[in-house]
Order: sequence, then structure tokens, then C-alpha cells
Amino acid sequence: RHPGLTDRFGREHRDLRISLTDRCSLRCTYCMPAEGVPWLQRETMLSTDEMVRIARVAVEMGVDEIRLTGGEPLLRADVVDVVARLASLEGPGGRPELSLTTNALRLPALASQLRDAGLERVNISLDTLDRARFHELTRRDKLVETLAGIAAADAAGLSPIKINAVAMRGVNDDEIVDLTQFCVDHGYQMRFIEQMPLDAGHTWDRQEMVTGEEILAQLTEHWTLTERGDRGAAPAQVWDIEGTDASVGVIASVTRPFCGTCDRVRLTADGQLRACLFARQESDLRALMRGGADDAALADAVAACLQLKQPGHDIDDPSFLQPDRPMSAIGG
Ligand code: GTP
Ligand code: 5AD
Ligand code: SF4
Repeated sequence: RHPGLTDRFGREHRDLRISLTDRCSLRCTYCMPAEGVPWLQRETMLSTDEMVRIARVAVEMGVDEIRLTGGEPLLRADVVDVVARLASLEGPGGRPELSLTTNALRLPALASQLRDAGLERVNISLDTLDRARFHELTRRDKLVETLAGIAAADAAGLSPIKINAVAMRGVNDDEIVDLTQFCVDHGYQMRFIEQMPLDAGHTWDRQEMVTGEEILAQLTEHWTLTERGDRGAAPAQVWDIEGTDASVGVIASVTRPFCGTCDRVRLTADGQLRACLFARQESDLRALMRGGADDAALADAVAACLQLKQPGHDIDDPSFLQPDRPMSAIGG
């Protein structure tokens, strides 16, 4: 592996998260205001050639996992082609593992094509199983379509399927057991996420946040859980659910940060490399590429970006500032 993938704190970056677009077909309250946000301009968005080129440089450096995110990544018109091209990259350890985080709405149309193109698995956002609540929370009446998308991913063999729910007090925190049971019944892995200060409206409130500990307390009232061992660099802490084949995860980014083992670097749809979700600076790979940089110069820029990475997110620090870019334009 390229030494430039290792940062000042010894963290080796093997996971590249690529945002394919900042647009989305839903308007989840914890992410976007009802009217949306000012979208990236077309000319600032990376072309597919440019995006694949950066991914190739990263994979040749030793990145071995690529995650496609958004906005909603399946809104990118050529997403199947993007997957096919990324799936054919080769690094020192072979082909990268390819996964996608999606709201599932386009999966009925795309799941099997994506699978054939080389996508291995999907994580799907589903915050509630109640139709009216889904409508309120996402501002679109699309629960039925979302469930159809999850079923389509399952039928296409995009497994293991993980279901993500951001836990919100007074909104869906009474569904922690029901959502988990839904996943137990279908053979998916449920994960509950602590809300992070990344919403476009800057409405995040530390006191209001449902903590991982509270989530776990609800789960252990209903099931006997056994914690799985070494999670490596994964954000989720995972428990096996006794009496089932299933497991459940908690992503406690705020109360139990996993920054010490972070192996992720992010590329935005407009070609900015971010060493952290909460990074205050970005590296403009688009400008470098459009200025004629060769692959070695791009690799140097990746390494330089990682050298700026901070040890952690400092959300609890009084001087913490939310990044200017909202979650929908970083990719989660
Ligand atoms: P798996 O590899 O399937 O475990 O995926 P993942 O959990 O890493 O990714 P996913 O896109 O499903 O994200 C789930 C939640 O974890 C989202 O809220 C992400 O914002 C959050 N997340 C993912 N990576 C990081 C990270 O590096 N730092 C923090 N703080 N949160 C992250
Ligand atoms: N905090 C934590 N997770 C979030 N997501 C979106 N916004 C936030 C936030 N503010 C989640 C979505 C999706 C994943 C990519 O990130 O639910 O599953
Ligand atoms: Fe990595 Fe930043 Fe997430 Fe911490 S907050 S795990 S450093 S991306």
C-alpha cells in the first residue's frame, strides 16, 4: 500500500466513499429542508471519467473498499455504468469491494442491473414502518415504494442488506423494536444511528439526540443480545440477537466516536476530497485534474489531504463548528 494512505495518527485509509450526486428524491427532516438546498452546478460536477479516474488512483494506492453515496446515488443517470467501471478497477489487493447506500426508491428498476454490473451489497435508509409517519419524516408518501426497493435488493442477491434508521426522539424512537423485528423477519441487519450535526438547517440538538445507550436499553428489554467481537474500522457496534439468526447494530458516532480507527476518505460529487465527515477543509481534485495533473500528482494530493486529518470530530468541544457542506452534499 502507498504510504500516503496512512495519516499522522497511523490510520490507514482503505475505504473511499464517493458521492454520485447531491440530489435526492426524499426530503428527510434530519437532512434537508422541504424546499431542498442549492444544488451543485452541472459544470462543477465530476464527469464519470473524472470520477473513475480518481477512484482508480485511490485503488492503485491501496484503497480496497468503495461505497457509493449521495444525496441519492441512484439518481445519477449512468449509475450502472459507474458501478461497472469501478468494479473493473484493480489494486495491489485485487478488485475493490463495492457497496451502495440508498433510499431504495429506484431499486425495483435497477437492483439486478447493479448486481450484474458488480455491486455486492446495499445499505438502505428506513426510519419508520408507518406510512403516515414516513410521509411526514421524508415529506414524500413513498413507504410502499421503499419497501418494494428493499425487496428488490433482496431478490437480486445484494446481500447482506443493512437497514439504517436515524433515531429521533418523539419521532421514531418508539419503533426501535418494531424496525428490528422487521429485519429479523426478513433476514436483514438493522442499524440505529445517532443523529449527527450535519443537517442543512442546523437544527441538531445534542440534548434531543437519542443516544446509543438509550437504543440499546430498548433492545435489551426485548431480546438477549451478545456483542460481537472486533469491529475493525466499522462504525457499527453489532450484537447477535439470541433465538434468531439476526444481529442488530448501533452507530454511536457522537457518544462513542470511532475516529481512532477511521479508515474513510470521501469524494464529493464536485470533486472535493474530504478526510473527515466534519473536515473544515477540502482538497480540490477537480481543479487539479482540469489543470492537467497526472496520476502521480493526484496521488500526492490524496496523501496531502490525509495528512491534514484531525484525530477526531470534536462534536462535544465548545468550539465545534458544523461543516458548511450539509450531509446531502458529503454523502454520509
Ligand atoms: P457498512 O460498511 O455496511 O457497515 O457501512 P457504513 O455503516 O460504514 O455506511 P453507511 O453508508 O450505511 O452509513 C451508516 C451511518 O454511518 C451514516 O449515518 C453515516 O453517516 C455513518 N458513517 C459512515 N461512515 C462514517 C464515518 O467515517 N464517521 C462517522 N462519524 N459516521 C460515519
Ligand atoms: N446523522 C446521522 N446519520 C445521518 N444520515 C443522514 N443524515 C444523518 C445525520 N444527520 C444517514 C442516513 C443514511 C446514511 C447515509 O446517513 O439515514 O442511512
Ligand atoms: Fe472518521 Fe471523521 Fe467519522 Fe471520525 S467523524 S470516524 S474521523 S470521518
